[in-house]
Amino acid sequence: MAEHESLEFGKADFVLLDDVSMDEFMENLRIRFEKGRIYTYIGEVVVSVNPYRAMNIYGRDTIEQYKGRELYERPPHLFAIADAAYKAMKRRNKDTCIVISGESGAGKTEASKYIMQYIAAITNPHQRAEVERVKNMLLKSNCVLEAFGNAKTNRNDNSSRFGKYMDINFDFKGDPIGGHISNYLLEKCSLDCQSCPLTLLSSFLSFQLVKGGPESLLRSLHIQKDPAAYNYIKVGGQLKSSINDSSDFKAVADAMKVIGFTGEEVHTVYKILATILHLGNMKFDSDGDVTLIENGNLVPVLAELLATKQESVEKALLYRTVATGRDVIDKQHTPQEASYGRDALAKAIYDRLFCWIVGCINDIIEVKNYDARIHGKNTVIGVLDIYGFEIFQNNSFEQFCINYCNEKLQQLFIQLVLKQEQEEYQREGIPWKHIDYFNNQIIVDLVEQQHKGIFSILDEACMNVGKVTDELFLQALNSKLAKHAHYTSRKLSPTEKCLEFDRDFRIRHYAGDVTYSVVGFIDKNKDTLFQDFKRLLYNSSNPVLKAMWPEGKLSITEVTKRPLTAGTLFKTSMISLVENLASKEPYYVRCIKPNDVKSPLLFEQERCRHQVEYLGLLENVRVRRAGFAYRQTYPRFLQRYKMISQFTWPNHDLPSDREAVKRLLQGCGFEHDVAYGKTKVFIRTPRTLFTLEEQRAEMVKRIVLFLQKVWRGALARMRYRRMRAALIIIRVYRRYKVKSYIREVNRRFKNVRTMKDHGKHVKWPMPPKVLRRFEEFNVFLVFSLRWWAWTLIRSLSPEDVLQVRAKVAALESLKGHRADLGLQRAWEGNYMVSEGNPETASSFTLVSSDLQRKDKFMRVLFSSNVRKINRFHKCEDRAVLITDRHLYKMDPLKQYRPMKSIPLYNVTGVSVSPGKDQLVVFHTKDSRDLIVCLQGMVPAGESRVGELVGALLSHFKSEKRKLQVSVVSPIQCSMHGRKCTIVVEPKINLSQPEFTKSRSGYILAVPGN
Ligand SMILES: Nc1ncnc2c1ncn2[C@@H]1O[C@H](COP(=O)(O)OP(=O)(O)OP(=O)(O)O)[C@@H](O)[C@H]1O
Ligand SMILES: [Mg+2]
Repeated sequence: MAEHESLEFGKADFVLLDDVSMDEFMENLRIRFEKGRIYTYIGEVVVSVNPYRAMNIYGRDTIEQYKGRELYERPPHLFAIADAAYKAMKRRNKDTCIVISGESGAGKTEASKYIMQYIAAITNPHQRAEVERVKNMLLKSNCVLEAFGNAKTNRNDNSSRFGKYMDINFDFKGDPIGGHISNYLLEKCSLDCQSCPLTLLSSFLSFQLVKGGPESLLRSLHIQKDPAAYNYIKVGGQLKSSINDSSDFKAVADAMKVIGFTGEEVHTVYKILATILHLGNMKFDSDGDVTLIENGNLVPVLAELLATKQESVEKALLYRTVATGRDVIDKQHTPQEASYGRDALAKAIYDRLFCWIVGCINDIIEVKNYDARIHGKNTVIGVLDIYGFEIFQNNSFEQFCINYCNEKLQQLFIQLVLKQEQEEYQREGIPWKHIDYFNNQIIVDLVEQQHKGIFSILDEACMNVGKVTDELFLQALNSKLAKHAHYTSRKLSPTEKCLEFDRDFRIRHYAGDVTYSVVGFIDKNKDTLFQDFKRLLYNSSNPVLKAMWPEGKLSITEVTKRPLTAGTLFKTSMISLVENLASKEPYYVRCIKPNDVKSPLLFEQERCRHQVEYLGLLENVRVRRAGFAYRQTYPRFLQRYKMISQFTWPNHDLPSDREAVKRLLQGCGFEHDVAYGKTKVFIRTPRTLFTLEEQRAEMVKRIVLFLQKVWRGALARMRYRRMRAALIIIRVYRRYKVKSYIREVNRRFKNVRTMKDHGKHVKWPMPPKVLRRFEEFNVFLVFSLRWWAWTLIRSLSPEDVLQVRAKVAALESLKGHRADLGLQRAWEGNYMVSEGNPETASSFTLVSSDLQRKDKFMRVLFSSNVRKINRFHKCEDRAVLITDRHLYKMDPLKQYRPMKSIPLYNVTGVSVSPGKDQLVVFHTKDSRDLIVCLQGMVPAGESRVGELVGALLSHFKSEKRKLQVSVVSPIQCSMHGRKCTIVVEPKINLSQPEFTKSRSGYILAVPGN
């Protein structure tokens, strides 16, 4: 029920006719033809009328319109049927076939080409190179086959002289991966005489070769550039000619090259064609008893082309080798026999050549390296383009075969479309009004039945010993088929004046009555080629030619099985073809030829009516209207559509699948359009099915989304688990590394307590990476150092502790500011006692003991000889004693009589210079700073500034007081309330430091070098 076309174009589907009658059918067909609508449906069958003009309906845009659409969504078209076949194959994994039938010139071959073109256009969306190659091969092979197999006849300028069945194999993705061609060549049987040129031998290629072949090639083949010079290709004086012969010739040559023929093979093909042309010109004459070749100059040419010896060619043409028992004799042909043999040879060579070409193409396009386990099921679309029914003035063996073939196909159509349909309804218990149709099985049987059929009778007649004639064959037919309703002859119906006695018989075909002439039946049926020719060609030194004739190997005396007759061969090939088609889901294209004059305007009513009748189209419409467009078993139907209904998704809980399907369809509101059989559901209109498909597609999207969601979740969870596992492993590994590190630390430092240096020499192990970033905070290291320090400190005497504290204090305040802090030596502090001569030491001790008694100090922090500036800016030598309470100045010249003292709580800070000098300035609260330079050290030059500062700082710290220490130069100070600066300057040849007055204060000159 095609849409998108208004009724002015007639009805797009004959099923929609108001009344199913021949008149209405013809009227609709005519309107559509005249309005340029050449395609019409009968359900899923396409009826096509040859437009005899170029139609703009096969372009890329039209292909896009039909791609992936349902049959009834668009106006009827071949593309729709091709798409339906393709979809059935892809969706349901089914092999399908498209049977194109109709009479000669009805447009079968054109239709098959458009179908192939469509399939090529919609497949391989990803442009895989391999698939493109296969497609190119399939399309190119057609061009070569047409060049060899088509000829001009009076019914069709481009008539296929062979039936072609082509399987295209698809992989699971629906892309073509190869193919296979079966050919049903009939011409072999038509052994006509010179007066009726052999149609096939006038194949296009012969013309193209003669008219369009390059000069050099023609010269090598001894061919003239004039078709009229060759008997086989001048058709009734009219020569088929085309301006494009030269480019056509090249196109075929290129196509052969693309397909994969080698240069040598192509050349042999030309040689064979040339041989056939030369053979056609051979003439025979008799000279008394001897038969001669009239134009003997052709013999060497033939010998050269066939790569054999001249004598062999001559002998094979003029003699026949006959074996009688053990004797072998050469029997000479009469001129007629020789001519007969020549034509038989020409045809046989052509036949072999054609079969060989088909074989080569098949070798190349066959599916290779396909493994169903890996690639999924390999599905097939078959396209059958086979000669249509032929009714001529004079019908012979070929017409008989062709018409038999059409009977078989009609039988298949009846079986599949009509009979099976009705039977299925009965089986399924669907109420059904029986439709009468003509079952042509009876005619098929008439032709092919074992022992009783015409082919069998013909074979029997051929095997008769003694004289075998066509008349005897007719007599046999008359006696055996006298009672058959579809057979008659003049003898059986004497009143039929149009049937000639002893020559004609008539068969009542489903398509109409056809009268056949028995003349030539026997010869055409027998394998008429003399064995001598087969031997001749087998002995050729051209390997390609030799390979075409394997039977030539047999020796003359060898008794061979009688070869199968042409009729039997044809019958067997038809039976296997029909079996093959029956195993596939068929789609039909029924072609109609509107007129005999190739006019795009003329619709010959009678002609068309006849074809509609014999194609059984009206019955087809009736069955279709009564029937259902679609049927499917309940489980499969559910499997496909269960997602549409909540009752059936994901599984139903109804008592049976049938109930579930019912519930599903009720839910969709299709109750009126369906019937429920015993095992199958039947859907009447394709629209319902289409709606179901649409709903399914919608749901599939959601299901896919759901599956994606679940799967993505599963993936994420998997990834998460893997990450977590990795983290655990990392954690355990790190813990292990840390533990081993601790263990190693433990091992190394185990005995530090007993070590002399308390483990100072022990190397700290390299921490693992995980701890390395914390290295500076490495608690172990810190603990270890603390422990080490604590151990060291613990072992010190109280005096040492004081000394260490002083050193630490000095270090903290002076490190980096003053060079020599004297940390390496022992800090003795009271140097006036430890260093002076015993005399000064004892008087100093005496004085300090007095002071201790008087001022009650606890200990001496520091004492030293110093040089200081007095009130009059003069240098004076003094000694200082710093106790924990006072700073005393003493006069060394007066037995260290104490002079002035400064209580320590008055001292706020000390300033030292960054140099090596021993200048120390004590800052006091009352701005009476004391400026001294330590001196009289033993050894001389020892620096004691660090010690003095350290001792003071340490003491201040113990009293929790602050002492300001500054390292500067020049040093700022206050003398009796006056601000002044002290600069240190080195001076050569100076033995002691000396203060001199300067403008801003004082200069301390120190011994320099
Ligand atoms: N769809 C079409 N559009 C245009 N012209 C067409 C179409 N179909 C057929 N023809 C014309 O009709 C001619 C005969 O068609 P085609 O060769 O397909 O016939 P056929 O049925 O294969 O005949 P045969 O049985 O002799 O091989 C074509 O050469 C072409 O000119
Ligand atoms: Mg054809």
